[in-house]
Amino acid sequence: MMPAQLSNPYDILAFHAEIGVDAALEETPQNRFAEAEAAIAPMAPIAVKPPSPVPMSRPPAATSSAAPVPPDAAALEAREMASKAKTLEALHEILKTFDGCALKKTAKNLVFADGNPKARVMLVGEAPGADEDREGLPFVGRSGKLLDLMLGAIGLDRTSAYIANIVPWRPPGNRTPTPQETSICLPFIKRQIELANPDFLICLGKPSMQTLLGVNDGIKAARGKWRDYDTGTRTIKAMATFHPAYLLRSPNEKKFAWRDMLALKKALAS
Ligand code: URA
Repeated sequence: MMPAQLSNPYDILAFHAEIGVDAALEETPQNRFAEAEAAIAPMAPIAVKPPSPVPMSRPPAATSSAAPVPPDAAALEAREMASKAKTLEALHEILKTFDGCALKKTAKNLVFADGNPKARVMLVGEAPGADEDREGLPFVGRSGKLLDLMLGAIGLDRTSAYIANIVPWRPPGNRTPTPQETSICLPFIKRQIELANPDFLICLGKPSMQTLLGVNDGIKAARGKWRDYDTGTRTIKAMATFHPAYLLRSPNEKKFAWRDMLALKKALAS
């Protein structure tokens, strides 16, 4: 809540910027938690009815008063929609029509992927930031520049690596995506990995590692180890390393990320 003593418009703006409010979305504040509860509440009687098929697509939400899709239904719908995509281009198009994740409402752009989808290496980050949201491409801001340097150090670039995120829309104020947002978007990134079919998957940071590899240890202990990842059609090698944004804050850890990059180079050569 805004401190009551703030009356100067500059101070009010500064307060909002500090807590991560960096875009004006509506004239009046909306309680999205109350909306979600209201959407879930009427579901109770439905539970006793025989299950009905999940609709493949809903009519677009014409007004902001349209009821939000309950998270479980959205995750189911995401799974259905993602499984229908036979190519990455089709998946991209399908994702554009998906309205089940509330982040889409506040993001400027869908950030699907960058790089070469035929590359042997796929890197997956957490979620787009402000620069990525503006450009509609992953890792184009400061951490993207560092990622490019990391890739360059082992002879890779965006023509020889494919890059995406767990969540393809920017969370407002760069907050961490909620577990609900992550699980709604998960079927899409899993299908994206399956369709890209890389030989090596690199998870950038703990959220990506937890979500894709199911590893809950701290990133310091868990990074740098090759693990198996089942794409749905085959098993590939996956490794977690530090997120470039973390490396910008903790440059002392760069030596470990460097080791991970060398391990990737060795694996690519073998
Ligand atoms: N951080 C991420 O995890 N992904 C991006 O695309 C940019 C920053």
